[in-house]
Amino acid sequence: MTNFPGSYPQTRLRRTRKSPWVRRLVAENKLSVDDLIWPLFVADGDGSPQDVDGLAGVQRLPIESLKDTARQAFALGIPALALFPFVPDELKTPDGDEAINSDNLICRAIAEVKSAIPEIGIITDAALDPYTTHGHDGLLRDGEIVNDRTVERLVEMALQAAAAGADVIAPSDMMDGRVGAIRNALEKAGRHDVAIMAYSAKYASSFYGPFRAAVGSRKALSGDKKTYQMNPANSAEAAREVSLDLAEGADMVMVKPGLPYLDIVRLVKQQFDVPTFAYQVSGEYAMLKSAASAGALEFDACLLETLMAFKRAGCDGVLTYGALEAARLLAD
Ligand code: PBG
Repeated sequence: MTNFPGSYPQTRLRRTRKSPWVRRLVAENKLSVDDLIWPLFVADGDGSPQDVDGLAGVQRLPIESLKDTARQAFALGIPALALFPFVPDELKTPDGDEAINSDNLICRAIAEVKSAIPEIGIITDAALDPYTTHGHDGLLRDGEIVNDRTVERLVEMALQAAAAGADVIAPSDMMDGRVGAIRNALEKAGRHDVAIMAYSAKYASSFYGPFRAAVGSRKALSGDKKTYQMNPANSAEAAREVSLDLAEGADMVMVKPGLPYLDIVRLVKQQFDVPTFAYQVSGEYAMLKSAASAGALEFDACLLETLMAFKRAGCDGVLTYGALEAARLLAD
């Protein structure tokens, strides 16, 4: 810590706050559209976009509107989208077989968005939860989420997503060893161009509720995810997770949720100094939206303030449902 010289009245910090020009000059962090990743939900069919329970401002989009939305994002300069599928109950099975159907919704969505707007980055999750009848991210055997067999399935998902045109695979399942397994399989398939953004420090959080409604896993989920997602009480363990994922070949790491875990972002950035991201999750976005609709706060200003907080903590970028809104505000 710097030992600051000076004291009042020689030093008056308000002098560097007195007008916009000087505030701009001394700003320590900058938020720009380059920092934004926009998570989007895709649904099958050619109907109209569907609202998501508990997630005002977010809709599930059929592929055609997804493409239009991606064009809007690209026009505003948003670098990348993270795509998630809504899987109807009929397609869910205990082992999540639809996840490895190479013609499934997410693969079709990736391919279509990529061919419509090749310049925008496409990130996609590797995890089974949208596809399983029990809503878990892995295979369930005798009441246990089994690790290594789940990893095999994630590898297949990753290869398919890469073949469909995904630029980045984001394993969000928290199985041990999945980053290395996916990296090796991509290498073997000649896909060294495909990157991995690891959900490295993903916590067993209660802030994911609206997301689970959006992908259709909320009512399916039996029990909790505490045997694979991290305990919110831990931070040293986050560093171990990041370290393993980097050793296994992760290009970028992520902390999730976002705002309640900024201490973890700071720790990861300081300790590893690698591309570090945070996910401002569905429950966080829903809190802002509902507080705003209750008249308690102003959405736009609060959204930008939260995003700046991520930058200050050390994020290189943020996954946020508010990406388009933020991009518009930043463009003004
Ligand atoms: C699936 C996944 C989840 C989120 C992203 N990928 C939910 C979960 O792990 O239960 C949460 C995102 C959000 O809440 O916005 N593995």
